[in-house]
Amino acid sequence: MMKVMVVGGGGREHAIAWKASRSPLVGKVIVCPGNAGTALEPKAENVAIAADDSDSLLSFALRERPDLVIIGPEAPLTAGLSDLLSAEHIPCFGPGRLAAQLEGSKVFAKEFLMRHRIDTASFRCFTDPREAKEYVVSKGAPLVVKADGLAAGKGVLVAETVEEAFDAVDSMLIRRSFGDAGKKIIVEDCLVGEEASFIVMTDGLHIVPLATSQDHKARDDGDRGPNTGGMGAYSPAPVIDRAMHDRIMKDIIEPTIAGMALEGINYKGFLYAGLMITQEGSVKVLEFNCRLGDPETQPILMRLKSDIVEMCLAAVSGNLSGVEVLWDPRPALGVVMAAGGYPGSYKKGYPIYGLPEKDLPDAKVFHAGTRLEGKKVLTSGGRVLCVTALGTSVGTAKENAYALARGIKWEDAYYRKDIGYRAVAREK
Ligand code: AMP
Ligand code: GLY
Repeated sequence: MMKVMVVGGGGREHAIAWKASRSPLVGKVIVCPGNAGTALEPKAENVAIAADDSDSLLSFALRERPDLVIIGPEAPLTAGLSDLLSAEHIPCFGPGRLAAQLEGSKVFAKEFLMRHRIDTASFRCFTDPREAKEYVVSKGAPLVVKADGLAAGKGVLVAETVEEAFDAVDSMLIRRSFGDAGKKIIVEDCLVGEEASFIVMTDGLHIVPLATSQDHKARDDGDRGPNTGGMGAYSPAPVIDRAMHDRIMKDIIEPTIAGMALEGINYKGFLYAGLMITQEGSVKVLEFNCRLGDPETQPILMRLKSDIVEMCLAAVSGNLSGVEVLWDPRPALGVVMAAGGYPGSYKKGYPIYGLPEKDLPDAKVFHAGTRLEGKKVLTSGGRVLCVTALGTSVGTAKENAYALARGIKWEDAYYRKDIGYRAVAREK
């Protein structure tokens, strides 16, 4: 039986570990560091090593010799954990440091898109605040200001006015609010339309698209309030019909993988394209992530019927072309239950009540910021759970997920009530 190691401890990693543990090939799943949800999965076990502690993860992997490592979050990928493991012949699914620059440096990603003529918002890069502001004035608002490096989803400001854009420039280039991640910035045109997440698996040559999805990044109903990592998601994204799917593959995904290969970079892993689809039907790249999305992964993996471990192993050995992927035709929707105050400051350590005692057939409560203390599950992060359900339509998946969420309680629990509203409106 195989041993699979999953790096990370959020909702995405619980979903990966849950799915991997359902593979008949797998005897044990080790999650570093995991959460209460992964600790409670029958075949899984947590090991307390942080996802960004590459040295300890490498020495642990050298002792354990897992048959497959799946790296969830961006930080270890951009730090080169995949290169370290591969150099020791430990099969690892996740891009190396150079490939992960597609997420790790927005300047790299934008210049890459230009070189390969892939559609994206027009932009300029700056290190000098005065030049950045001259450009802001010449373009006028609205504009988007982005820190080059990783900033935990906080490095993007959509500025409605020139003053707001100035403030973002000052905050990044002068006050260094994002440290070195904001040494360089991008100022780009503001795009209008509907966002969708398009995630594929690739071995560097062959590409397997996963089911499409959409997430809600704003904290409050109606897509208002501060930006978060994601307050809910559903799959599929009705805005991506067959024709749009083909266009995205042909105009964006294929040239990206081919472009990386052309530049001598083998991209092996999940690739996430954040897309803006305009009313006129054009599609532009907003960003790349070098990993699965969180919370998109939770509804996507609920719909995956194929064996994720088989898929990853095929990709690691460059044999993704032979892989056929089966999906549950039913949509899935996940509602993130968060700590009150998130994404600002919030409290931790509340006991969670009403979690399902046994496995449900068409629903799953994925854990993110939770930890186990004895038999009690306590909150330990901003995004605490992602309550995910299948349904015959997005509307029913939504009803099923919310029915389950309403039974789960802790002091301060907060969740949006309208996840999937656009897709549900389309269904009517
Ligand atoms: P990013 O990390 O680049 O995906 O940006 C985070 C979020 O900011 C995206 O999901 C969009 O909602 C928004 N955003 C980023 N770039 C643009 C843009 N050029 N125009 C409009 N919204 C944007
Ligand atoms: N849900 C968006 C992300 O994972 O970046």
